[in-house]
Amino acid sequence: MSTHRYSSEKATIELRDVRKSFGSVDVIHGLNLKVEGGEFVVFVGPSGCGKSTLLRMIAGLEDVTAGDIIIAGRDVTDLDPAKRGIAMVFQSYALYPHMSVRENLAFGLEIAKVARDEIDRQVDAAAEILKIGPLLDRRPGQLSGGQRQRVAIGRAIVRKPLAFLFDEPLSNLDAELRVSMRIEIARLHRELGNTMIFVTHDQTEAMTLADRIVVLRDGRIEQVGTPGEIYEDPDNLFVAGFIGSPRMNIVDAVYLPGQKVGVGGFVIQLDAPVASATENAPVKLGIRPEHLVLTGGENGLLSARIDFSENLGSMRYLHCMLDSGERITVELRGSADLVSEGTIRLTCDPQHLRFFSESGERLR
Ligand SMILES: Nc1ncnc2c1ncn2[C@@H]1O[C@H](COP(=O)(O)OP(=O)(O)OP(=O)(O)O)[C@@H](O)[C@H]1O
Ligand SMILES: [Mg+2]
Repeated sequence: MSTHRYSSEKATIELRDVRKSFGSVDVIHGLNLKVEGGEFVVFVGPSGCGKSTLLRMIAGLEDVTAGDIIIAGRDVTDLDPAKRGIAMVFQSYALYPHMSVRENLAFGLEIAKVARDEIDRQVDAAAEILKIGPLLDRRPGQLSGGQRQRVAIGRAIVRKPLAFLFDEPLSNLDAELRVSMRIEIARLHRELGNTMIFVTHDQTEAMTLADRIVVLRDGRIEQVGTPGEIYEDPDNLFVAGFIGSPRMNIVDAVYLPGQKVGVGGFVIQLDAPVASATENAPVKLGIRPEHLVLTGGENGLLSARIDFSENLGSMRYLHCMLDSGERITVELRGSADLVSEGTIRLTCDPQHLRFFSESGERLR
């Protein structure tokens, strides 16, 4: 890696019509994506959708069946992984148990025959960034999980890569450590400024770390956007249901003439027409749990029977059943909302309603 000294350079990463098959099984189906230099992009999607395969192809650890991978403007599709200037950090940190932290950090540079004083400089700089200076003489077995993950990230930093790829690097850590490591990674990105692609199953990690989120399903991109766009403006039911916890409520409704929507015997007036919806045709109505509010009046949007109530301290989730048999979740905050059983009437500001076709496409 001694030939790479680009840490201040912000490398773009481009996938052009990238396909991957394992034998006769196609797992990536012609995927296009451009990650901007210095951007923090998060890949999310269900297990098996191809996130790790994509990272491994970018790193060069996996062949590309068709298409091109361009890093910093250079076609690296057939380039040796070691020459791509990419560092990958995995979920299992795989440190060398018999080596000290310092030796673990230095190892890759020694293999690359970097001069001793340069190695020391790199190792000390990485240790400073990751605050592992006091641990340099310990062995991995004498470290906590979070400290080991820091060393694994340090091993990537000393190589001065063009870009970092993280494959669920925090999944093995307990909840508290995950939160502090998440902040460390955000800080690392701010300090180094490198392009980073990060895979996670954790909604909070995706929402807080990403400049842009890429939502994948079955080897295809469902949507690319900022966390706000993905959350507020999902392109389809899959994205709407995948991002957000608890999930967005989806209920059957009818789009009515005069910019109205009918659901469960209620009719509400919308502020604006849903141009792509057909009048008197069924639609799927999406409402986030935090947008449903209790209403005392006769009118409302939904009437729901509380099945059970979960008190999380700062908020309460009401898991409810509609007359139609559909299940919804309501998020209530504040002590005024102490209802926990019986039948409730709910409403929602029409601007928070999202409409989808029966086949799951967003209607705007
Ligand atoms: N070496 C392989 N041989 C055959 N199939 C593979 C191989 N590696 C991955 N696959 C298949 O490719 C698909 C994508 O796998 P991949 O590991 O990229 O998923 P992922 O999105 O990272 O999932 P997870 O969230 O569980 O880590 C899966 O269906 C998987 O079974
Ligand atoms: Mg994976």
